[in-house]
Amino acid sequence: MHESDGSARRSSPLEIAPGEFRALGHQLVDRIAEFLERLPQRPVTPGESPARIREALVADRPLPQAGAPPGELLSRAADLLFAHSLFNGHPRFWGYVTSSAAPIGVLGDLLASAVNPNVGAWPLSPMASEIEAQTVRWIAELLGYPADCGGLFVSGGNMANLVCFLAARRARAGHDVRTRGVEGARLRIYCSTETHTWIQKAADISGLGTDAIRWIAADREGRIETRALREQLERDRNAGERPILLVANAGTVGTGAVDPLPELAPICSEYGIWLHVDGAYGALAAVVPDAPAALRALSLADSVAVDPHKWLYAPLEAGCALVRDAGKLRDAFSYHPPYYHFGDEATNYFDLGPQNSRGFRALKVWLALEQVGREGYVRMISEDVRLSRELYATIANFPELEAMTQSLSIATFRFVPADLEPGEAAEAYLEQLNRELLTRLQNSGEAYLSNAVIGGKFALRACIVNFRTSATDIRALPPLVVRMGREADAALRPESLRLRASTP
Ligand SMILES: Cc1ncc(COP(=O)(O)O)c(C=O)c1O
Repeated sequence: MHESDGSARRSSPLEIAPGEFRALGHQLVDRIAEFLERLPQRPVTPGESPARIREALVADRPLPQAGAPPGELLSRAADLLFAHSLFNGHPRFWGYVTSSAAPIGVLGDLLASAVNPNVGAWPLSPMASEIEAQTVRWIAELLGYPADCGGLFVSGGNMANLVCFLAARRARAGHDVRTRGVEGARLRIYCSTETHTWIQKAADISGLGTDAIRWIAADREGRIETRALREQLERDRNAGERPILLVANAGTVGTGAVDPLPELAPICSEYGIWLHVDGAYGALAAVVPDAPAALRALSLADSVAVDPHKWLYAPLEAGCALVRDAGKLRDAFSYHPPYYHFGDEATNYFDLGPQNSRGFRALKVWLALEQVGREGYVRMISEDVRLSRELYATIANFPELEAMTQSLSIATFRFVPADLEPGEAAEAYLEQLNRELLTRLQNSGEAYLSNAVIGGKFALRACIVNFRTSATDIRALPPLVVRMGREADAALRPESLRLRASTP
């Protein structure tokens, strides 16, 4: 320890003096502002290979022995990231379910890191804990979920669903599952075949195992078949299995389908099982006046997972688990070791979830909710949905594009060459062609889509959770896909699949 200037301050290699910190911060914020301003003019991604990225980073260099000036480092980090990233904040990014990040959230993360509250326990984060509680309540209000529910922030949809899953397991196992485990308990969980892969991780991590999942067929719209669900429940009950949980989707990851929640809630009551809604993507569409009617029934669920880093446009990471009966979270997660000295007059978040030390994820979400209010979100989410419907309608004007599905803000479609000889071989070729088209499109930087599989057919998928996307961006997509589709087709198609020109 050196106190070379005679002050009581310790001299540390990591410290940055206030004046220098201010200057570095201003420079960095200037660069970020410029980056955001220019984003629409840049490619969505440079589409570089892993080798190229590692080369730019000099990835194989050893750990530095001595340090370097922070200004240089921040400038280099910004150069690397601005030049070699995929930008999900770009107006033409429509892949997976990843939103543009609200600028106020970017600044909120800086502020959260500066204060660095540990939101694991109230005494370590008095204001931050209360802001988290308020934000959780506001999210519940947006969804029409009981405002006195329990809830907390986690890293994203997978973790929010897992937290609710574990609360359900604890509540419905029929024995003290936290002490005795699940061996021999024959616990069963139910969900449609369209459910996101988090369910497998949850079944695995929770000790139930993936064989405990009963995959129920979905209808042509991607919604769980309630008759098939009932039949499976009956079979399992008669066989002495113990059904504990139904996972319903409020916006499937593939096509945005919303399961029939008003029909599912009474089935869950009848069989005494927990109704969990995976609303990671779509639950927030409940704010839109013409949203699917089933979303009005979110309040019937025992728990809901929702992702502020999707349709609240928060920077990664922010997921939120909501449980109707707040006590059920505590029942599922609380332990009080002797080395904790926290009172119980306020919420200690370590009690409600798997984490101990916790960052202040809620701040960026709280700031955005304050910035635009309910009205702002109704407007942005409605616009995303409207743009998706417009995209779907526009696709119909392009004979080489086959429109497949549209729900919430997801549209799916595929490229079908005009002169493709129909038949079985054509289907296999269309899969190969559209895969290749997607790869070319993703690497082009002109727009970014991902894919879905609809009735066994490989589809291109545009999911708009992007407050920067305009009608002009959307209208540019179909001609782009047709152009790249024709190029991919010219490179791939075997002669046998070409329609012969009809002879007179
Ligand atoms: C319906 C659904 N559930 C869960 C998830 C997982 O969310 P995350 O990637 O935030 O863990 C996603 C992600 O797209 C999703 O769409």
